[in-house]
Amino acid sequence: MKDEIFFEFDDLQAILRFGHGKLTDTCFLLLNVADVAAARQWLSAAPVTRAVTAQPQPETALQIAFSVEGLRALEMKESIIKGFSDEFISGMSGDESRSRRLGDVGSNAPEHWDWGGEPGRAPHVLLLLYAGKGGIEFWKKTVMDPLFSKAFRQLHILPTDDIGSIEPFGFADGLSQPAIDWQYLQSTDLHERDSFSNWVAPGEFVLGYPNEYGLYTSRPLIDPRIDRLAARLPNAAEDPSFKDLGRNGSYLVIRQLHQDVPGFWQFVDRMTGSDPEKREQLAARMVGRQRSGSPLAPLAARDIPGILQKDRDNHFTYELDPRGYRCPLGAHLRRVNPRTGDFPTRVTGLVSRLLKTFGFGLKRPDEDLIASTRFHRLLRRGRPYGPLLSPEDAVKPDAPAAERGLQFISLGASISRQFEFVQNAWSMSSTFGGVQQERDPLIGIRQPLRHGEATDFFNQTDPKGPMQKTCCLPQFVTVRGGGYFFMPGLRALQYIAAAPMTEGD
Ligand code: HEM
Repeated sequence: MKDEIFFEFDDLQAILRFGHGKLTDTCFLLLNVADVAAARQWLSAAPVTRAVTAQPQPETALQIAFSVEGLRALEMKESIIKGFSDEFISGMSGDESRSRRLGDVGSNAPEHWDWGGEPGRAPHVLLLLYAGKGGIEFWKKTVMDPLFSKAFRQLHILPTDDIGSIEPFGFADGLSQPAIDWQYLQSTDLHERDSFSNWVAPGEFVLGYPNEYGLYTSRPLIDPRIDRLAARLPNAAEDPSFKDLGRNGSYLVIRQLHQDVPGFWQFVDRMTGSDPEKREQLAARMVGRQRSGSPLAPLAARDIPGILQKDRDNHFTYELDPRGYRCPLGAHLRRVNPRTGDFPTRVTGLVSRLLKTFGFGLKRPDEDLIASTRFHRLLRRGRPYGPLLSPEDAVKPDAPAAERGLQFISLGASISRQFEFVQNAWSMSSTFGGVQQERDPLIGIRQPLRHGEATDFFNQTDPKGPMQKTCCLPQFVTVRGGGYFFMPGLRALQYIAAAPMTEGD
C-alpha cells in the first residue's frame, strides 16, 4: 500500500468514478470554439460534475473533454501540447497506419465518417450532458446559456437513446468494468499477479498516478518558474518541482459505431435454419454471454454468498474453458478482456516460471499468445442510440432499417496500450488466441488479409467432433465517427480556461 496516495475526488470529473447509470437521458455535443475569450469565460465557471459521493445523488451531470485541436484553439502553447501522448496529438483519424490498425478501412475509413474523419480538424470540445428521465431539455437550456452560445459553435449532436441496460443487438451491457483500486491495496508487482484480478491500479485510468507497471503515462508537466499560471496545478508525482496538467484527468476515446441490427439477426437466423433456440445460441456464442448477461464461461467455482446477480455474472475467467468449448476462443467478450494473469494458468513454481519466461515448454497456443490483461483494461462509458428493435422483429424480412448503434466511450491513461491495443491486437486480429481466419464476430471488419486469407469465419471448437465453422460473416458494425480527447481534472480545466502567457513568459 502506498500511504502517500489519496485521491482528491473533487478534482476528478465524476465519469471517471461513476457511470451516471441512473441518469438515463443524455445529450452528447461536439463543439468548436467560436470566440476564445467567451469560451474561456464559460469554461472557467462551467458546472462540471465532480467525482465526490453526494447525498442525494445529483439529478444532472456535465463532463467535458478537449481534442488537441480544441486545446490549440484555446491557445495552449505547443511546448505544453507536446507533453501529451503521441496518439492523442495525432488523433484517431490522423494517420493511415493507425486507421489500418484500428480496422478503419473500407466502409469504416475516416473519409466516410459523419464527423471526426478529417485529419487535423477534429471537433474541439466534447460535452457530455446527463439528466434523469425527462430532464435533459431543461439541463441543456441551463448549461447552454447566452455566453455558451457566443463561445461555441455546435457541430453535431451525437444521437443517444435510453433503451434500458442493453445494447442495440439486444444483449445486456455494462456488466463488466474494471474495479479501480483507489487505495492501492493490491500489489502491482509481477511476482504477485499470476492470475487475473479485476482490481486495477488507478494510474491505468487517472493520469498522474502509478499504473500497473508502477510508472506514469504521458501528459504535460509544466515548470511553474516558466509558466506562473501553472502554480495552482497539482504537483507532478515523479518530480514535485513540476506541475502536472494531466493529474486527475484521463484520455477519452469516443467512436460512433453503427449497428446493423436486422443484418445481425437475419444472418444468425439463416445460419441456424430459423430455429429460435439455435439462433439464440449462435448469437450468444459470438458475444460470449447470453442476452440476459449470463456468461458462457463457467462461473468461478468458489461462489461468494450474498453477491449481487450483476457481480455474479462477472465472476469468471476462461481458466475452466481453455479450449473454448463453452465460450468460443474468438467471441467478442473473450477478445476484449481475456481475463488472463501474468502467467498462463498452469505456470506455478519457480522452475515453471523460468521455463515460461524463456519461452520453453509451451503446449497450447493460447498459453503464449494473449498478453496479460491488467495492462489493457478499458473503463467503458458508452451509450446506445436508435429505436429499439427486438431480435424477434429483427429477423423478419421487413424489419425496419434505422440508424442504431453505440456511442462507444472508453477512458484510460494510455490510448495506445488500452483502446488501440484491444481494438488492434485482440478484436481485429485474425490470429488472436490461436484462432484462424476470423476477427471479432461483432465489431470485426471482414476484409481478407493482404495475401488473400479470409477473415470472415466464426469458429467454434466442439469436444465431440471437428471445429464448427460459420462462414461469410457480413460486417455488422460500421464506424460513423470518432476522436481522441483529453478530459482534464478540475484544476487543469481552470488552467485551460485561463489566458496563456506568451511563450517563455
Ligand atoms: C457496437 C459495438 C459493440 C457492441 C455491440 C458490443 C457489445 C458488448 C456486449 C454485449 C458486452 C457484454 C457486456 C459486459 O460484459 O459488460 C461487451 C463487453 C465489452 N466490450 Fe463490447 N461491444 C461493442 C464494441 C466494443 C469495442 C469497440 C470495444 C473495445 C475496443 C469493446 C470492449 C468491450 C469490453 C472491454 C467489454 C467487457 C468485457 C469483459 O470485461 O468481460 N466493445 N460488449
